[in-house]
Amino acid sequence: MKKANKALDVIILAAGKGTRLKSETPKVLHQLFGKTLIQRVLDSLSELSVRRVTVVLGHGRDAVKEHLNSLAGLENIVIETVVQEPQLGTGHAVMQVKSHWEKTNQLSEISNVLILSGDAPLLRPETLSDLVQAHQGSANDLTFLGASLEKPKGYGRLLIEGEEAQEKVLGIVEDKDCTVEQAKIKTVNAGIYCANWQTVAPLLEQISSGNAQGEFYFTDTVALAEKAGMKLGLSLLEDSEEMLGVNDRNDLGACHRALNQRTCERLMANGVTILDPANTMIAPEVEIGSDSTVFPSVYLTGQQRFGSHCVLGPNVTATGTITVADHVEILHSVLLGSVNIGGYTTVGPYAHVRHDVKLSHHVAIGNFVEVKAAEVGAHTNAKHLAYIGNATLGEEVNLGGGAVIANYDPIRDVKHHTVLEDGVKVGCNSVIISPVTLKERSSIAAGSVITKDVGEWGLAVARGRQVELKNWVSKTLQKKERSEGTKEKEEETPAL
Ligand code: UD1
Ligand code: CA
Repeated sequence: MKKANKALDVIILAAGKGTRLKSETPKVLHQLFGKTLIQRVLDSLSELSVRRVTVVLGHGRDAVKEHLNSLAGLENIVIETVVQEPQLGTGHAVMQVKSHWEKTNQLSEISNVLILSGDAPLLRPETLSDLVQAHQGSANDLTFLGASLEKPKGYGRLLIEGEEAQEKVLGIVEDKDCTVEQAKIKTVNAGIYCANWQTVAPLLEQISSGNAQGEFYFTDTVALAEKAGMKLGLSLLEDSEEMLGVNDRNDLGACHRALNQRTCERLMANGVTILDPANTMIAPEVEIGSDSTVFPSVYLTGQQRFGSHCVLGPNVTATGTITVADHVEILHSVLLGSVNIGGYTTVGPYAHVRHDVKLSHHVAIGNFVEVKAAEVGAHTNAKHLAYIGNATLGEEVNLGGGAVIANYDPIRDVKHHTVLEDGVKVGCNSVIISPVTLKERSSIAAGSVITKDVGEWGLAVARGRQVELKNWVSKTLQKKERSEGTKEKEEETPAL
């Protein structure tokens, strides 16, 4: 991974309310494939060496701050926050950072500043790295990203003068301030800037709020820089989807689709067959090996790695940290939490594998089987209607249909652990009350309720013995007929 530039400061604007999302959750905390929007924005910095990230907070600041604190360790990034109250526009938001840096005597340390929006989660790390390199390489005062859009509505339009290659950006007009003619301009501002702080920051003082929204627009710095004779740079995005911002739930859906498509294209290029990317949702963190096949209705989010020659779906939901070896088949099933699956194992149809499960190779977890907090050895089968919870199963164990490991004591609210050693066979409909150990090669008779350990090679039978009452049915019927005969006679006999 290339790490461009030194001592880059990053500002992320995240004070806006996100009114159009109609949500109790602050905008930047909305999820996009299991990560918040702001976490995805932080991820887009991965190719840059960032000195520190300063996030401007406003609406929902406590929740966002708490979330950022939890990310700081995870992302290995220094994050500071600055509050903007009230929220008077993007220019005003950047001014709050400027005053914070002034107050804390940091101004002289700041050289280049990358300014991002907390609601634009689709930027590729290489796009930001290219932007910063272009800015530094040309020694610009202000370099920013734009795109050409078929439907530019809602975005700031770029006022450009002159012919191609000689063109000069004069300024940015916000959608709400556009004249009819300006509204037709298709080249828009992506809202991503790299600024030489020492020359651009003083321009913030000159921004006014005399516009349609009565806000201080950061975009006005472009015209101010141009007038002051500063050096501007514009990089147009090849893939305009990268600038997609989340303003409402439609945008959130669009971001999911775009990110899924990007991921599916990457996986297909690596040799994975995906029958219908539009009917599949795969997070960018997911890796799948070549010659694997993904059927429709597969939803995968989290740090996940599937091997080669795997078959996933139809209908698989996997969320969490999941590692799957080669030649594994998962059909109509749910995998949650931390799950590790060895080669040639089959899961499903209709299995539920969740929270700290390790399945070895050649394991078969079949219909309506739930596995939770368990380790299962190689060549072990639980093919129908079983529950394996808080247990260690050795190799070549077989669980018959309806076998249940009763791990939970609801009175004391504790979970107990059970061990089934290598070669143990459990008959259908048995209940194994934890904690017990079933020693190697032991066997449990069907329908047993097991409460004690069983020794090696032993057979435990723990159920009522079968009793047969000879001719009970015919005798009972005869008795019934006789009693009905007497009754009829009584009815025929006239009352005296
Ligand atoms: C902004 C740009 C527009 C560009 C578009 C790209 C301005 C004035 N306009 O418009 O040219 O085409 O992005 O997506 O900059 N924010 C604050 N404090 C505020 C206002 C906003 O922190 O007072 C934050 C928001 O939380 C958001 C970001 O700044 O993360 C952008 O604000 P938003 O209101 O979404 O701007 P747009 O109208 O999308
Ligand atoms: Ca926006």
